[in-house]
Parts: sequence; C-alpha cells; structure tokens
Amino acid sequence: MIARQSALSPADYLAPDIFARERDGLFARHWQFVGFQDALAQEGAFITRQIAGQPVLIRNMDGELRAFRNICSHRFARLKSAESGEDTPGPLRCPYHGWAYDRDGVPRGIPGNKECFGLDRGEKEALALHRYPLAQIGRFVFVRIAADGPTLEAAVGPHLTLLHQLSDAFEAPFAEVAQPWQADWKIGIENVLEVYHVDAVHPDSFRTVVDGSWRVVPEGVHSLGYAGIRPEATRWWEGVGKRLGLQAAEGFSDYVHLLLFPNLAIGVTAGRMISVQTFEPTAPGRFTLRYRLCLARGAKPGGAARQAVETHLKALNETLLSEDRTICEEVQVGTAAADRPALLGANEDRIAHFHASLRSER
Ligand code: FES
Ligand SMILES: [Fe+2]
Repeated sequence: MIARQSALSPADYLAPDIFARERDGLFARHWQFVGFQDALAQEGAFITRQIAGQPVLIRNMDGELRAFRNICSHRFARLKSAESGEDTPGPLRCPYHGWAYDRDGVPRGIPGNKECFGLDRGEKEALALHRYPLAQIGRFVFVRIAADGPTLEAAVGPHLTLLHQLSDAFEAPFAEVAQPWQADWKIGIENVLEVYHVDAVHPDSFRTVVDGSWRVVPEGVHSLGYAGIRPEATRWWEGVGKRLGLQAAEGFSDYVHLLLFPNLAIGVTAGRMISVQTFEPTAPGRFTLRYRLCLARGAKPGGAARQAVETHLKALNETLLSEDRTICEEVQVGTAAADRPALLGANEDRIAHFHASLRSER
C-alpha cells in the first residue's frame, strides 16, 4: 500500500486552541503577502489587512511603504476601515479627533495639544504607532507581525528569482476579490496541492485547461507543482496572446503552481496569466480566500478584445473557485465527524509535505 495517514488529525482543522496557536505562532512569525506595490504607488494610498489577529495598515507615506498597527494612539479608533483607498498625500490622519501621524508613525499634529495634552516632542515620539516589518520582492509586498525573524529573501529561499521574474513579467491585477469560506485555511491549501480532485470537481472548468499530469518538487517548507496544459488550452492562450500582444513569461509552457509556505499560492498558466491567492484564517474553521488575476505584460490597454478576455477569465476563475469552495466546505463539515486522520495517496504527496512543514514550523 502506498497510501499513508495524514500527519494532521481532525482536531487540527477544528479546535480553537490550535487556531490560536497557528495565529500567534505560525502566522505572526511568517512574512505575509499583502498585495502588489501597484495599489500603493500613490502617496497616501493604503490597504488594510488582518494578520495573525492584528489589524494592519499599509500606507504610502511620502513615497515610502510603511506598515502600522491600524489603531490610533489616542483613544484607539481604527485609523482606516476600508480595505483599500487613497488619501490626499500628506500625514495619516485619525478620523476621530484628527491626530496626524508622520512617516514614522509619530503624532506630530495633535489638535489642541498645548491646551489639552501638553505633549512635548519626546512624549509624542513615545506615542508612535506600532510599526511592523515590511519588505518587497519586486512588486510583491509582504508584512510580518513579529519584530524579529529571517529576512524575506531568506524566507522565500530558492524562489527569490521566480518571484522577481513574475514581478517583472506580469501586470497589476485586473481582478481582485476576497471571499469568506466556511473551512479551515489548511483545507483550502490542501485543495490546491493536488490535481486528483480535478476530474470530479472541475469537469467543465479546470479540466479543460490541465491534462492530468502532475509533478511535484518540494523545496524546504515550500513546494512546486507542474501540470501539463491541454493542447486546446495552449492554442487558446497562444491566440489570445497574439491578439492582445502579451509577452509570455519565459519557461512557463506548463501550469506551474508555487506554494510559499504557509499560505501564498501562485498559479502560472502558459506564462500568460498568474493567479495569486492567499488563505487568511479568520476564526476556527473559517478563512478568507483572496485572489488576484494578472495578465502578462504587453497587453494593449483597454479595447474590447482585452475586456472580453478578462471577463472570460474572471468568469472561469469564479466557476472553478465556487466548485472548490463548495467541496472544501463539505470537507470541513465532514471533518467535524471524523475520528481518524485522512488518507493520502501517492498523488497527494504535496499535502504530506505541507503537513510536515506545518509540524516543523508550528
Ligand atoms: S482616537 Fe484618534 S485622534 Fe482620538
Ligand atoms: Fe480545485
């Protein structure tokens, strides 16, 4: 028998104490992808994220990207409630009483300071917003909650070149969506680590793209998976690429899937589109799936042909994600009634590798 038992037990997907341990350990320690630099290019542009239970604000402060705890130092109003937006350039202003923070998170502008607080320079500095480490690989922006740890370059290890290559070869997302799934984040990840489910779950969507072959390359805690692309799908992408003027990223004739441990997954289709997914735990048995779709560079901007291709790709992606979501939520419900670890076949080795990584890191 080639199959083996999963290293994780049903409780790993259900128990509040395991959720808390992953949040405060794994997710606080690891660099988390928060978005592309493109969304933060303008001074005053910002995005907000919840990482390891912490509300995080990433904002372009006078041309530099900074990550702060999204909480005012005065009476703790959330500084930003939207998921993204663009302030007029200048200091970061709290919506409650108007404290204004400089690029280091120091409240330099406090309305009525002299009469009401009498804070001097040093006291203001002591009230600086909590800052988190932020680092980039090309246009990929990452934040870490823990103050200390390995550099982003060290964390991505052998995949540094690949990330730079993707950053150079692909445009800003044409679609960006966040959707809540009623499943543990690991069930979402496991689902993208095998193509075994494709015949049963995606007969009319993903199955029309990939040919069923599968090769896995583990790299430290990360892993790569390669699937062949069906000839019809290859022809479709070649036609679309020609029509839109896409410059296919070199060396990606297959479907290439990278898992950057713990929760960033990037799928590259025929070198002409990437899907960048994060699996963000929100509560025990719940996560938010956030995905972005980007086309290869070179596409002529605007135009009906490009619109039609983007609409088609968005719809295909929505279909296959709703298929995945339905089955993952069924697995979550089923896991609550399971009394032993799941079984993993030889074609699910990448999941076994993910579990081993979890065990070593958690
Ligand atoms: S809570 Fe932010 S200025 Fe008062
Ligand atoms: Fe799937």
